[in-house]
Amino acid sequence: MPFPTHRPRRLRTSEAMRRLVRETRLDPAQFILPLFVCPGEGVRREIGSMPDNYQMSVDQVVKECAEVQSLGIGGVILFGLPETKDELASGAYAPDGIVQCAIRAVRRETPKLLIMTDVCNCEYTSHGHCGFVKDGDVDNDTTLDWLAKTAVSHACAGADIVAPSDMMDGRVGAIREALDASGFQKTAIMAYAAKFASVFYGPFREAAESTPQFGDRRSYQMDPANGREAIKEIELDLEEGADMIMVKPALAYLDLIYQARELFHVPIGAYQVSGEYSMIMAAVRNGWLEYERAMMETLTAITRAGAGIILTYFSKPAARLLG
Ligand code: PBG
Repeated sequence: MPFPTHRPRRLRTSEAMRRLVRETRLDPAQFILPLFVCPGEGVRREIGSMPDNYQMSVDQVVKECAEVQSLGIGGVILFGLPETKDELASGAYAPDGIVQCAIRAVRRETPKLLIMTDVCNCEYTSHGHCGFVKDGDVDNDTTLDWLAKTAVSHACAGADIVAPSDMMDGRVGAIREALDASGFQKTAIMAYAAKFASVFYGPFREAAESTPQFGDRRSYQMDPANGREAIKEIELDLEEGADMIMVKPALAYLDLIYQARELFHVPIGAYQVSGEYSMIMAAVRNGWLEYERAMMETLTAITRAGAGIILTYFSKPAARLLG
């Protein structure tokens, strides 16, 4: 005899009541803001498809990071746009590469800010693929060497967390081994463990200038249809030594965030990717969605599904709103 004894609406009668029984709360400390570092000085170029996000030179990134810190945001993840690209992605692991310089500069000005780096090659190769291309495909094992060198160079510059996003087999193990061999036992790895070949990375490739010049990424990123395979990818990355794992994109893959939360006892991140951000911003700019509510509802859903950490382009406005 549930009704009229049970009336769930009783707990929704006022904001005070709703606030009391709220199951999911957001905290700026759980957000990571992605930043795109470009050459030059005083450069702050807005990304067309990602309003309020910029390609920034190192000096501007340093300023941005001071603001990120003052808002209580969890940290930043750095992506680099090198001066030149080549077949061997040399810019990715150059000791004085764009990301390595940015890490040092940010570390100097905001020593306590958590710095995470994306470890991948697509922004650094002339063809835009995530590794060494041999016979028209990305060669897994050669690419592992580049990734390991890149991770070590980031750790050496002062990164707290390296986050491999390439989806090569065995990369977490290769990176862990290389970090340890170079004395970086304390550098953590957040693996982009379940990363899908998604249409929602479109705007990012404009931001990072990393669109593949031929073919696509389906021989290394996962098929969006495969959930069980995602769990296997996460298991493998944890076995290889990942400290944290990530599901990417977020909103179209909430089922996997939920399953990962149930199955694994490590921190779980989700990446609310560029296309997820751009869709909302486009609708907002058309007057079709309310900005703050769309932002907070998606972030709440991702958290409710089980992600404790969210990489999001909404980090600053969401942190401001949370006060
Ligand atoms: C690098 C990388 C990508 C993203 C994060 N790291 C692009 C890709 O795989 O094509 C996407 C992030 C976003 O869309 O916001 N491999």
